[in-house]
Amino acid sequence: NLIPVIMSGGVGSRLWPVSREAHPKPFMPLPDGQNLLHKTFVRAASLPGVVEVMTVTNQELFFKTEDEYGQAGYTDIPQSFILEPFGRNTAAAVAAAAIQLEDAHGPDAHMLVLAADHLIADHSAFSEAVGKAQALAAKGWLVTFGIRPEYPETGFGYIEADNQASLVEGLKVARFVEKPNLATAQEYLAAGNYFWNSGMFCFQVGSLLDELQKHAADVLEAVRVALEQSRLSISGSRRCLRLDAKQFAAVPDISIDYALMERSERVATVPCDIGWSDIGSWNAMGELTAADASGNRLEGEVLVHGAHNNYVQSPERLTALVGVEDLIVVDTPDAVLVAHKDHAQDVKHIVSQLKKSG
Ligand code: GDD
Ligand code: MG
Repeated sequence: NLIPVIMSGGVGSRLWPVSREAHPKPFMPLPDGQNLLHKTFVRAASLPGVVEVMTVTNQELFFKTEDEYGQAGYTDIPQSFILEPFGRNTAAAVAAAAIQLEDAHGPDAHMLVLAADHLIADHSAFSEAVGKAQALAAKGWLVTFGIRPEYPETGFGYIEADNQASLVEGLKVARFVEKPNLATAQEYLAAGNYFWNSGMFCFQVGSLLDELQKHAADVLEAVRVALEQSRLSISGSRRCLRLDAKQFAAVPDISIDYALMERSERVATVPCDIGWSDIGSWNAMGELTAADASGNRLEGEVLVHGAHNNYVQSPERLTALVGVEDLIVVDTPDAVLVAHKDHAQDVKHIVSQLKKSG
């Protein structure tokens, strides 16, 4: 029994002004017209052996999410939702899912934790990797999916593989380091036996709960209390659990990477080449649009003269670029972003400023 658990909660502030609180990154349309959530749901639901798809998301996004899934099909697969009043980070989301799944399917069920905002180009390689991950999870490993690193990204987790310890379907993880600084990331890249953590995980529900009890008992306990106070509604084959705000506020705000993956000694990885990309910034988004002869990647109504290597998204109005290079320009009805490509990561600071000014 395999249950994909789609985590959809991050705001995606580096993709402002298109990604907003009420319209976060998973709902941003890609150049092919589909959004990341739609793609994630289809990717999850079409895996072999799936008995249910679970989604952990904010309560405000429930109808939007349900609507998106309705358009994707797979109506024969039961859906369940855990709805948060606010985000309490991924350790809470994963723990809530695990407790629910143990109740519904028993401790031997496999859960596949997926982020709602990743792109995976090679579906059959992904499906094959999930098969290997399930074999390892059945033996009690907490399984990560290791991506061959391309540059010293500091926004990812790094997995040091223990090359001496082959587990047939994957490798034992010697060390998991979440978001190292640049010098450390460069060191890891040079060492050669490190992978990026893709942010997807495969667990046997019972072993995950055991490891959470061991390393993050405070999160697990607080989530249990919040679940006990939650409200359940069922319509057809859809189960919906609304977490109580008062109880959920008491859950520690920590990611699964820091709370568990860095601490556990039972971590394994399935190295995989699946065309994975975390659409983390406008640069990554830009990569999805083909470049013209001048290196410009243009979407929507755009004219250029003497401009090179820019990315422009201007779906509703005409945007013109003259004599500029390496810019990101994103036009929306109420906000325009102009950023240098080297500072794509810093767009999030604008969102912080907006929050402060209310
Ligand atoms: N339901 C829910 N609630 N989902 C959440 C919450 C929350 O409070 N917080 C984050 N998520 C969702 C995000 O929407 C995303 O789909 C996923 O969980 C991962 O969260 P991110 O906030 O995007 O994590 P990250 O990018 O900083 O780091 C993770 O992903 C990297 C790869 O993309 C880590 O697992 C890293 O180790 C990894 O390299
Ligand atoms: Mg992310």
